[in-house]
Amino acid sequence: MLILGIESSCDETAASVVENCREIKSSVIYTQIEEHKRYGGVVPEIASRRHCENILGVVKNALDGAGVTLKDLDGIAVTYAPGLIGALLVGVSFAKGLAMSAEKPLIPVHHIAGHIATNYLTYPQLEPPYLCLVASGGHSHIIEVLDYTKFHVVGRTHDDAAGECFDKCARAMGFPYPGGAYIDRASSLGDSSAFALPHPNVSGSEFDFSFSGLKTSVINLIHNSQQKGKQLNYNDLSASIQKTISEILTEKTIKAAEFLGYKKIALAGGVSANSGVRSALSTACTEKGFEFYMPHKNLCGDNGAMIACQGSYNLINGITADESLNAIATLSMNDI
Ligand code: KG4
Ligand code: ZN
Repeated sequence: MLILGIESSCDETAASVVENCREIKSSVIYTQIEEHKRYGGVVPEIASRRHCENILGVVKNALDGAGVTLKDLDGIAVTYAPGLIGALLVGVSFAKGLAMSAEKPLIPVHHIAGHIATNYLTYPQLEPPYLCLVASGGHSHIIEVLDYTKFHVVGRTHDDAAGECFDKCARAMGFPYPGGAYIDRASSLGDSSAFALPHPNVSGSEFDFSFSGLKTSVINLIHNSQQKGKQLNYNDLSASIQKTISEILTEKTIKAAEFLGYKKIALAGGVSANSGVRSALSTACTEKGFEFYMPHKNLCGDNGAMIACQGSYNLINGITADESLNAIATLSMNDI
């Protein structure tokens, strides 16, 4: 089975051909990060325009790279939710036209389900059920992966996502956008016990997150020191932020796995590239006797292979769309 996956939900235009669910034949990612950097974040209209300009070339390169043509495909998968609406619409419209002209099934894929699928691409033997922590720029979720296409969200953030918290703290320190990876690098040079940062108290579900308090306390620390003309050690501050975020994510995920009786824990999303989060969750899983799975570093960020992989499972399970498929900016995993 050969599936083309198309991703355009934020600032990466990506396409990939995946064979038999888990074998990546090609993966092409055009990232717009350099252009958005000068604005300190993603500018939605610019994102849509760049997707529009690049999507055809990216898809063509993915097909050429895999040595296949449209007629060899068994389906065309596309991210339809959630994300920037104008960005999603480019991918959805393009995939619809392609599916119609090639007379192939159109397969809708939820972006977070795509992130979860990066673990199938990394571990050929991984099968549901398991519990997955998905942490990215827009999401922080603890999700029961009941089956390849069945999900149940048991924890979510009440405010900022973990990646957003990394990025906003990084911005306050003057690091370029997106700052998560810069904090990761600076952390390796810093002392993670230098700053005592708050762990949030979250009302509601005990598996829910909140990162806005942490972000505010970091921004206040920086502003107060600037007002006093003092320069904080940003390596130490980065290491302290990374340790705190890693502890919060790890503690809630382990708690949820124990409560729900899961033996396998997976990590996914852009923040799964973070060395502190990877090692904190991995260490906790070893201590508690859980099996632990995390994606290859080059699959953590948005890519087309994760959409093609999840699209393969969607097709196997009869999840396809007709010509009325639309993009949706906000859509819970519990509603797919
Ligand atoms: O999954 P993703 O590419 O896009 C969304 O779906 O949101 O995630 C992007 C997020 C950004 O917030 C970025 O700073 C963060 O992932 N990120 C990291 C690292 N690499 C990417 N955060 C911390 N450490 C990293 N090494
Ligand atoms: Zn993503």
